[in-house]
Amino acid sequence: MKVTLIGFMGCGKSTVGELLSKKLNLPFIDLDSLIVERTGREIPQIFKELGEEGFREIERELLREVLKREGSLVLSVGGGAPAYRDNIEVINKHSTSIFLNTPFESLWERIFKDKNRPLVKLGREGLKELYLKRLPYYKRANLEVECRDKSPEEIAEEIILKLS
Ligand code: S3P
Repeated sequence: MKVTLIGFMGCGKSTVGELLSKKLNLPFIDLDSLIVERTGREIPQIFKELGEEGFREIERELLREVLKREGSLVLSVGGGAPAYRDNIEVINKHSTSIFLNTPFESLWERIFKDKNRPLVKLGREGLKELYLKRLPYYKRANLEVECRDKSPEEIAEEIILKLS
């Protein structure tokens, strides 16, 4: 079984993913961390040197590589991955995707000071627009968890229930 967590920046994909992988006793892969490991560069540096398009192509290639691996795993992907080219189709074809649905206001509170997320420079309005643009892609996930006011632990438990 492969499980892919999707959702906007700050929805807790990495935290929940790690927790979920421990509970299910499966390996955990965070796609952003894999990108950093493989390129030897931090995400803001990749955006600076190659532009967002360059970042998206690396993300797309590594996403495919991970989803085509043998065996089970829990994967979390960056907030923009499902909305780029045919990525959501590939995610849904090779894994069970789960959308962590969190209200925009909570997301903004969690990410607005983050220097490691280049798109935060778009500001509150710009990010809200991006969030609304991406929602239809997130909504194509196989499963959805309503995350408002829930802890990572509660979200992970709910995912396990939904998967069973
Ligand atoms: C991005 C989200 C980030 C990271 C990059 C771009 C996006 O991941 O992939 O900064 O376009 O939403 P998180 O969703 O884990 O913050």
